[in-house]
Amino acid sequence: MVSTVIPVPSFDLVIFGATGDLARRKILPSLYRRLAVQQMPSDARVIGAARSKMSRSEFRKMISDALTEFVEPKLLNPATVETFLGCIDYVMVDATGTNGWSSLAKKLEERPEVTRAFYLSVAPSLFEQIAAKLSESGIATPESRIVIEKPLGHDLASAMKLNASLARSFDEGQIYRIDHYLGKETVQNLMAIRFANALFEPLWNSGFVEHVQITVAESVGVEGRGSYYDHSGAMRDMVQNHMMQLLCLTAMEPPSRFDPDAVRDEKLKVIRALDPLKIGDTVRGQYRARGNEGSYHDHVGNPQSRTESYVAIRAHISNWRWSGTPFYLRTGKKLGARMSEIAVVFKHPPHTIFPQVDDLKGNALIIRLQPDEGITMRVTIKEPGPGGMRLVEVPLDMTFADALGEDGGTMPEAYERLIMDVIRGDQTLFMRGDEVEAAWAWTDPVIDAWAESGSKPLPYDPGSGGPVDAYKLTSLDGHLWREITT
Ligand code: BG6
Repeated sequence: MVSTVIPVPSFDLVIFGATGDLARRKILPSLYRRLAVQQMPSDARVIGAARSKMSRSEFRKMISDALTEFVEPKLLNPATVETFLGCIDYVMVDATGTNGWSSLAKKLEERPEVTRAFYLSVAPSLFEQIAAKLSESGIATPESRIVIEKPLGHDLASAMKLNASLARSFDEGQIYRIDHYLGKETVQNLMAIRFANALFEPLWNSGFVEHVQITVAESVGVEGRGSYYDHSGAMRDMVQNHMMQLLCLTAMEPPSRFDPDAVRDEKLKVIRALDPLKIGDTVRGQYRARGNEGSYHDHVGNPQSRTESYVAIRAHISNWRWSGTPFYLRTGKKLGARMSEIAVVFKHPPHTIFPQVDDLKGNALIIRLQPDEGITMRVTIKEPGPGGMRLVEVPLDMTFADALGEDGGTMPEAYERLIMDVIRGDQTLFMRGDEVEAAWAWTDPVIDAWAESGSKPLPYDPGSGGPVDAYKLTSLDGHLWREITT
């Protein structure tokens, strides 16, 4: 089934940091794909803004190379590439100085009527300065949009400072804080599954759900990003943002409407209902060396580092819906597989009429984010064949790419969806400032407590499921982590 494409209105998108890695790998290829399916209009302008002195044609050459490297060859049609490159322009702008701003202003004045958006694909230390300059210079109009992406602060205090500073130049309704997990198709599907089907919602509470497991496991290490990661760690890099969003969408109440503030209000209520995290409900890990694969310490170049490359958490949400249902979260680098999923594990039937079967696992709804986005329902059926009533668990499996994928199974990238939402002016899949602050308020105390305790993260083997102690967290409630496997 090919998805319906609704074209967006024409726009001028200015990308600060347009020569950087994120722009080359994600932002520009995503725009290309949206042009290829005719969602991005061919008269839109994508204006690179960076400090490098570069002509428009040199910048176009750079984009053309990036498309060759990062777009699937089957989508690279020479005529479409030509049209896309025709949308590309470049202005040399010194984000911290005065050079280039008037040229940028002049270029944008050519089309005052179109949607104007500024994507700050730059170091977070530049967010506040660029936002202030855009507003003071009048380049950003009251209708313009500004897009930023994590890290949105390093802790609650810095996140509040960033929010306050942005608020001096832009209204909250103009600020698009990207969490790329919210652009993943399955993450949005979580809302569709819950709120567009009557089947699950009556069971979606502590009366029927035994526990929930949210796993984002990665097989890669931190090679190449060591200096950023070592100041961050799994809690700041993954839990405060991506995993918190998954938790919120799983646990939130149905919003009254599918509108940005209604959805974000409900997510915020979940974060605020989380019990303060106790150090005993967390397990930190750090991967060690294996064979000729280096350790975390080798990869970050800091033999003394106590930064966690793995964290497991046992969280409780104190509200009517979830009281008594533990939510387990875990994420880490160098684990056995790249596997992200939300598993909603249901309680056993209250009474069994099959006394001969004593190890029934019960139903579970597994929402797979990657790889192979899709949903599996674990159900128990009768094992086929004569010989009495033997029961067996089987997966009812739906892989979205098979059933729905565009073009024979290519699922759109998160950035494609999110950038088009910026242009449409739909903030539903973007984080509001108060959500970001509430998430830091939950993670900060335990990060501080780890530091004060003087303890070290527990070592784990690359390719494993993380530190053995993580299994103790779930076993406290008589539960077992699901296996990390593809
Ligand atoms: C990023 C983190 O936000 O998300 C990375 O900084 C992590 O450390 C990445 O690898 C995971 O994203 P995805 O889409 O590959 O699951």
